[in-house]
Amino acid sequence: MCGIVGYIGGNDSKDILLNGLEKLEYRGYDSAGIAVLNDSGMNIFKVKGRIAALREKVDTSVQGSIGIGHTRWATHGEPSENNAHPHQSASAQFTLVHNGVIENYYEIRDEYLQNVELKSETDTEIVVQLIEQLYLNTNDVLEAFRQALTLLKGSYAIGLIDNQNPNLIYVAKNKSPLLVGLGDDFNVVASDAMATLKETNRYVEIEDKEIVLVQKDRVEIQKLDGTVVEREAYVAEIDAADTEKGTYPHFMLKEIDEQPIVIRKIIQEYQGEDDTLRLDDNIREAMKKADRIYIIAAGTSYHAGLVGKQFIERLADIPVEVHIASEFSYNMPLLSEKPLFIFISQSGETADSRAVLVQTKALGHPALTITNVPGSTLSREADYTLHLHAGPEIAVASTKAYTAQIAVLAILAVDTARAKGNGLEFDPLQELGIVASAMETLTDQKEEFERIAKEMFETTRNAFFIGRGMDYFVVQEAALKLKEISYIQAEGFAGGELKHGTIALIEEGTPVIAISTQENVNLSIRGNVQEVAARGANTCVVSMKGLEKDSDTFVLPQVHDLLTPLVSVVPMQLLSYYAALHRDCDVDKPRNLAKSVTVE
Ligand code: G6P
Repeated sequence: MCGIVGYIGGNDSKDILLNGLEKLEYRGYDSAGIAVLNDSGMNIFKVKGRIAALREKVDTSVQGSIGIGHTRWATHGEPSENNAHPHQSASAQFTLVHNGVIENYYEIRDEYLQNVELKSETDTEIVVQLIEQLYLNTNDVLEAFRQALTLLKGSYAIGLIDNQNPNLIYVAKNKSPLLVGLGDDFNVVASDAMATLKETNRYVEIEDKEIVLVQKDRVEIQKLDGTVVEREAYVAEIDAADTEKGTYPHFMLKEIDEQPIVIRKIIQEYQGEDDTLRLDDNIREAMKKADRIYIIAAGTSYHAGLVGKQFIERLADIPVEVHIASEFSYNMPLLSEKPLFIFISQSGETADSRAVLVQTKALGHPALTITNVPGSTLSREADYTLHLHAGPEIAVASTKAYTAQIAVLAILAVDTARAKGNGLEFDPLQELGIVASAMETLTDQKEEFERIAKEMFETTRNAFFIGRGMDYFVVQEAALKLKEISYIQAEGFAGGELKHGTIALIEEGTPVIAISTQENVNLSIRGNVQEVAARGANTCVVSMKGLEKDSDTFVLPQVHDLLTPLVSVVPMQLLSYYAALHRDCDVDKPRNLAKSVTVE
């Protein structure tokens, strides 16, 4: 979602801001802007649309060694140049970028800004206008900033420049991520370290309700009451090369191809001594103690959670419920006596999941976050973290994070089962090794999936994916992938449920893709395929070796029964990729979507 970059130092900030914003493009946005301060004043450039358009608009002759930039994903007010950040106060003394949502927007406007003519429809503008109004009373920028923060309700990450003071960026955050990056005679601000990795890999975390005064050679963190806080910097362990596409046309294709590497990395990271699994003892204990596990997640991570439930229930004998994060509060189940909450989140920043974490923490329940970003909000705020080791995932549509989540959940389930003394034949690391090779076999056959995608999706407006048992979870993910990037309306259905209503939508040529990897449902899912074929559907069956029939469209290499989702999802990802490609869609940055959804 929205992204922030700021720079203060000895160089011109313009390119650093634009390059940083480009690195944040993957998070999803619909408009962007930068503000650069120099002797002639504040220079602001904004566009609706892409950073490439912003680059063209920026006057290359403008130079300034302090600046802030922003990518906006519209919440209050349509995507437009006028609503894009940075926003300025009425007198133009203050310029501000903001991520998050100000919940008491109307109250602040009505109480403090009655005499101010607002120029945009955004909640952000009220923040900068409020700071100016408070400054007019206090004549002290820091005090005005502090007072404004105490009045704001909601989530924010803020970068503020006072054009009377070219030596300072005022920074603050609450619930939205923001970091300060440390350099040699310069410092940067970023909502994601990825934006400024080219400049530095040393970062300082900012905690909620702290103010940071960022100068080119000094960074001071203060609590809202003015107490100075000392905090060590950490080194961001992201390889800048991992954030580049290399020779790939799209990040999504690169990330699909990386899946075997990620699975091998997970094997390596979780391999203990003498065939044990390497996991934090505290996590093991928390799992053992739990009488019920509640998995909370959104989107693709939710689909991984559905598979994880099977692992934990079948192997570790602990009942599991899987909940969509945004619904949990409204449909909160009766909790067991000793619940453990597991938050699955690639980004570790999803606001819906965080809202549940805040709620369950307040109830005193332990929480484990499974994430690709240790140090992310969900990771910091939960009691324990399991790392996915998937490397940066840039394409909005999640691929390698999904398979990494399933692999880590399998390891967690087996570890718990062993700790509980459940005798198991299943060696997860060995089986994951077989999965990694099977994935490679699939990614080596891209032409085949490109051909099938053309046959199934070239002209269609809708598509159905069907499966039973374990395959039902994968078809839900398959349908999400296709909708996200090709805009084909797609549904993932339980094979047996189709005939209870949805089969009414099947007509001549409707694509129906079936997955069959489980022996116990093989015959029944094939029966469902016959039902739709008899009504004219264009069918495609992807089966697992050992269960195949001559007429099947594609046969997957065999892997352990429990781990089939890791393999059957790969053709689904590739089918979606090629469907989107042939429809000329923006594969990596689909319309309206954000990679990291930081608003509820
Ligand atoms: C967004 C992304 C999805 C992702 C979901 C949950 O909607 O577009 O790809 O699955 O958020 O994200 P998380 O980072 O919590 O896994």
